Amino acid sequence: MNMSFSLPASVQVVEVGPRDGLQNEPQPVPLDVKVQLIDRLSAAGFGHIEAAAFVSPKWVPQMAGSADVLARIRRRAGTVYSALVPNLKGMEAALAAGVDEVVVFSAASEAFAQKNINCSIAESIERFRPVAQAARDAGIRLRGSISVALGCPYQGEVRPAAVAEVAQRMADLGCDSIDIADTIGVGTPGAVQAVFEATARVFPLSRQAGHFHDTYGQALANVYAALQLGVANFHSSVAGLGGCPYARGASGNVATEDLLYLLHGLGIDTGVDLHAVVQAGDFICRAIGRPNNSRAGRALLAKWAQGDAA
Ligand code: HMG
Ligand code: MG
Repeated sequence: MNMSFSLPASVQVVEVGPRDGLQNEPQPVPLDVKVQLIDRLSAAGFGHIEAAAFVSPKWVPQMAGSADVLARIRRRAGTVYSALVPNLKGMEAALAAGVDEVVVFSAASEAFAQKNINCSIAESIERFRPVAQAARDAGIRLRGSISVALGCPYQGEVRPAAVAEVAQRMADLGCDSIDIADTIGVGTPGAVQAVFEATARVFPLSRQAGHFHDTYGQALANVYAALQLGVANFHSSVAGLGGCPYARGASGNVATEDLLYLLHGLGIDTGVDLHAVVQAGDFICRAIGRPNNSRAGRALLAKWAQGDAA
């Protein structure tokens, strides 16, 4: 067969379930459950886990115990434990907690920036300047996340050029990597490729990530479309947990189990043990009493329940 593109040989999967997955849970998730989840994910082999968010507890109550979470987890050597920080106050808390990477987050639409971080895109970038300086001073990595890159619940359509403009501002801040986020999961493969083609003009694709929510069931197709362009970093959430508190109706990230099943099926190395992730997904769903939204997770659990260990 003559393929006109080649897929990356390896991909980094960033597990965002402990942050993006749990931030939207209506009931408080006990500290011990959050810690156990992260410890199980670390043991599964992830090289990067988004573990927490140092945001205002009035805005996102579920992330209030982030310092305790980071204090109690067993850190796996070589794994990056990152956290969201919206401002210098969050940055100070993140540094005190010993995170390896901080994530500043803005949006490709003014309306979403106002709803999520209570300021304009330009104001958010000004707010991030001292955060970026503090990250450099502390020698930790800085990541920039661009929400609603494929569509906005308030504004509607978002132009790829608008995403590239924010990517340029994040590049100027000194971000080591940039996430292209489909917050409400409305993107389709052609639109995803158009956005990455636009952002690739201002920032290397090798340091960009796809962060796809799965509201419309397009996330895996979107991953494949991004892989074809050479994107080799994707975010996912164990058991498909999550949603954004400021994007009503949006569902969780692509389920990690489904993403791993796709990547491993394509012969792409991730370094992550799918079976251990399925068990972590089963653990968190039972612990917080919610359904498992991973198709691969449910399929493997059903198979194991029938006594088939393969
Ligand atoms: P504000 O109300 O404009 O901030 O919120 P403020 O500076 O006026 O402060 C108000 C109060 O919050 C003060 O307390 C501050 O001390 C406190 P008070 O004096 O009233 O007692 N405060 C903080 N407390 C703890 N940590 C902090 C912090 N900052 C202020 N860091 C702010 C502005 C940005 C703080 C707020 O809007 C906020 O925290 N937003 C975060 C919203 C959020 O976390 N959203 C979900 C994560 S983003 C996401 O899910 C998208 C992503 O997954 C990608 C995608 O899918 O799109 C990343
Ligand atoms: Mg998200």
